[in-house]
Amino acid sequence: MEKRETIILGTEEKDIETAAQIICRGGLVAFPTETVYGLGANGLDGEAAAKIYEAKGRPSDNPMIVHISSKNDLMVLTETVTDDMRKLMDAFWPGPMTMVVPARDAVPRVTTGGLSTVAVRMPNHPAALALIEKSGVPIAAPSANTSGRPSPTTGMHVLDDLNGRIDAVIMGEPCQIGIESTVIDMTSDVPMILRPGKLTKEDFSRVLGKKVELDPTLLMRPDLNRQDGSLTETAENFHPKAPGMKYKHYAPKAEMIIFEGEAEKVRMAIAEAKLERTEQGEKVGVILYDDNNPEEAAHDFFAQLRAFDKSGVDVIFASALKEDGVGFAVMNRMFKSAGYHVIEV
Ligand code: TXA
Ligand code: MG
Repeated sequence: MEKRETIILGTEEKDIETAAQIICRGGLVAFPTETVYGLGANGLDGEAAAKIYEAKGRPSDNPMIVHISSKNDLMVLTETVTDDMRKLMDAFWPGPMTMVVPARDAVPRVTTGGLSTVAVRMPNHPAALALIEKSGVPIAAPSANTSGRPSPTTGMHVLDDLNGRIDAVIMGEPCQIGIESTVIDMTSDVPMILRPGKLTKEDFSRVLGKKVELDPTLLMRPDLNRQDGSLTETAENFHPKAPGMKYKHYAPKAEMIIFEGEAEKVRMAIAEAKLERTEQGEKVGVILYDDNNPEEAAHDFFAQLRAFDKSGVDVIFASALKEDGVGFAVMNRMFKSAGYHVIEV
């Protein structure tokens, strides 16, 4: 792909103006949101959206989230706003919720990865909202990382991956939440969570007053071929409904192993493994989060993986968190980062 200079922008009005002009000309702009940084293009322009796949090295069957700056703009992307959609957006937008809804014909199939549905989110971040509004179009934006790498939670992470491959980046504060939005499929009567996030199944159930399901693959730990991250034959039932969930993801350069079990035993096992690897001359990184503070784990996790990569760590040992609330979403990322390599102690 063609090399270009990446313009570094701030969040002032003139910066947003420049960024919006780039979007309107069919260019690529990375921008902060409350979850992770996104890599944006005009979501209604198939040619512009196609450039995102190229810049990220992303498989083109993996659909993108389209970002809007007002709830009414959902109607630009889908024909019928149901009562359930209305309830959820009134409760959670702007915020870390992405709804999958039937797509209007006007939404290019490049944006939706060939699907007849589209994922939509109104982010809770002033710079993101200003950019969408100034551009005057919905902005298609996956996370602004090279495909497969941990999602970026600072502007520097974006530059580490995409400098010279995109037109501009809006540098804001580090992202407040640190993991991507919850994706919920609203195309059938029983809503289904396709990707866990800060907002949980219980949050949605409470607002809708009805049952919400989890994509059953979220509870699976498929057997991966650790060399290339592909699925082995024993994992043939692993068909997540969100296309992106099947790929090897969030992967640090280092080997990564998760230790699961009683807290004190896990600490001991990690200390032992660390000693052993250090004696073999390897550089070891350790992740030990406070089980009672999954929000902090969410905030730090991707940044921690990137920091380990920078310092040339060979292997990362991480202790598993309790899989409830935000902890469930953090563990979903952690399992993927480690290629589902878990040691029970
Ligand atoms: O927090 C976020 O959601 C961030 C920020 C930038 O908004 N965006 C993000 O986008 O994480 P991305 O592309 O990295 O993840 C989108 C996920 C993928 O797993 C994709 O397969 C799924 O949503 N998805 C998108 N459109 C879909 C659709 N129509 N049906 C099912 N899954 C869809
Ligand atoms: Mg992503």
